[in-house]
Amino acid sequence: MTGGYDDGYKACPCFWGTSPGSIVVALESRIETFVGLHVLDVGCGEGKNAAYLASKGAIVSAIDVSEFAIANARVAWGNRDGVSFAVQDCAELLLPSESFDIVIAYGLLHCLATEDAVKTTVNRLQAATVTGGFHVICTFNARFQELEAHPEFHPILLPHSFYIDLYKEWEILNATDADLTEVHPHNRISHTHSLTRILARKC
Ligand SMILES: C[S@@+](CC[C@H](N)C(=O)[O-])C[C@H]1O[C@@H](n2cnc3c(N)ncnc32)[C@H](O)[C@@H]1O
Repeated sequence: MTGGYDDGYKACPCFWGTSPGSIVVALESRIETFVGLHVLDVGCGEGKNAAYLASKGAIVSAIDVSEFAIANARVAWGNRDGVSFAVQDCAELLLPSESFDIVIAYGLLHCLATEDAVKTTVNRLQAATVTGGFHVICTFNARFQELEAHPEFHPILLPHSFYIDLYKEWEILNATDADLTEVHPHNRISHTHSLTRILARKC
């Protein structure tokens, strides 16, 4: 299991850049202070979101199944206080009940093998979140995908409504289905993904 992005992680030290994702930044309008909050960043990649929340005072556990992602993350952010990086498959993560204030799954869910794995993972992450805590989800969805920039990668493509439904017991603070056009540094192929982004709070 590699997570699907190892070619990129091996080719350059900073595949995803250093700026946090837009809905991670959007948490700032909902949370007065991040100091002391416990954050889990699942599928953290090279750690841009984890490092950002640690810089705000959160205590961040950041895991990724790719050893290459975590190696790059440690070079980029290893000295930052408040963040720890580990190589781990989310399916094997021990998740004590109600233990995190914020869970970030930015780009993780479409990497999983089956619809059932997506559902099980989201349910486990939900159970590990405190009441009143937040989830930040960003994932490819089924509406429109140009995958030629990722020839060996076969993401699972589920409808936007599937993801919304997983959060029907939560308060959905923001949910969008929008296109992202991007170019990766290792092959420079411009391509577009339809992305579901969800910011939700556990009731
Ligand atoms: C699209 S990348 C996003 C990386 C990072 N969250 C970001 O926004 O920059 C998705 C990440 O999920 C990781 N991943 C895929 N399957 C995983 C799994 N089963 N457990 C943990 N991480 C996984 C991949 O290795 C990859 O680094």
